[in-house]
Amino acid sequence: MEKKVTKIGVLTSGGDAPGMNAAIRAVVRTGIYHGLEVFGIMRGYSGMIENDIIPMHSRSVANIIQRGGTILKTARCKEFFEYEGRKKAHANLKKLGINGLVIIGGDGSFRGAHKFSNEFDIPCIGLPGTIDKDIAGTDFTIGFDTAVNTAVEAIDKIRDTADAHDRLFIIEVMGRDAGYIALHSGIATGAENILIPERKTDVEELVGSLLEKERRKKLVNLVVVAEGDGFGGADEVAKIIKDRLPAADVRVCVLGHIQRGGSPSCMDRLIASRMGYAAVECLIAGTDNVMVGIMNNRMHYTPLEKAVKAKQKISDDWLRIVKILAS
Ligand code: ADP
Ligand code: F6P
Repeated sequence: MEKKVTKIGVLTSGGDAPGMNAAIRAVVRTGIYHGLEVFGIMRGYSGMIENDIIPMHSRSVANIIQRGGTILKTARCKEFFEYEGRKKAHANLKKLGINGLVIIGGDGSFRGAHKFSNEFDIPCIGLPGTIDKDIAGTDFTIGFDTAVNTAVEAIDKIRDTADAHDRLFIIEVMGRDAGYIALHSGIATGAENILIPERKTDVEELVGSLLEKERRKKLVNLVVVAEGDGFGGADEVAKIIKDRLPAADVRVCVLGHIQRGGSPSCMDRLIASRMGYAAVECLIAGTDNVMVGIMNNRMHYTPLEKAVKAKQKISDDWLRIVKILAS
């Protein structure tokens, strides 16, 4: 017989992402609407292990939809990798009678949730919360749109200086394993080259294209590099370029964590609200162990196991667009 979910916990885990608060708000208010008791679990899986779990009410999530970060805080929790840690976490949930969980985080958090759910038979629903957009089964992840817009705003400013001084700027954006922030922000700011982890960069091609642009008196040169590209980030790329093009006036700018914070964009608030609402509906309907995503503007449900195994694919078309539009 299907188990009825009556008390649910919500947590944010892994790297924070703008829009996580909007997702928490949606989970809490949808849960309360359906007569569930809702608990907030502090600092990701750490709060589950340390019993840092608080009752949430409609007013607990007032005035947060516009705030970056996460009111539940987030953490990376070593103990949760071990069975003993997860057992402790389960004992704490059992004491409170929590029989359903919503986990807002990245693929690592889903890996943990998948294990936990299999071991202790607690239904878990994942919401993709990461600026990296590196999770299969969804066109969007909570935080990506805001992060890209932050990067675009910053790169536009750098373009002014690049133009004023005829400089070549190497700009590093976030993305240890994924090039989406680089690709989207690079195309949107008219970058000459975009270097991403998913594609092996051909040094000769990069240097050749910069030389060609110099010959054609291209005014502004911006190279956007994902932190996880094959070279090892913007500094390494700059070294190679300075070595091969000694006349170029090269500067490096690492955007870093400014991309993780700030008030979420409309898009992130919207998808977070839709996903948070859908997560609770899933728990009530008995659809467990899925990640809620949005594909082609419709809710899309991917088994947690599959969501952690595959990444989104970078389309060859996008890379062609970069080349053609930067000519
Ligand atoms: P993200 O969710 O943003 O990808 P991490 O990969 O750091 O972030 O994972 C967040 C947390 O999820 C980890 O600190 C750990 O507590 C838990 N976790 C990740 N992978 C596993 C795993 N294989 N087994 C158990 N827990 C995991
Ligand atoms: O996963 C999100 C992300 O911001 C990555 O783009 C980046 O590589 C990583 O987290 C940085 O993590 P931390 O804040 O722990 O240094």
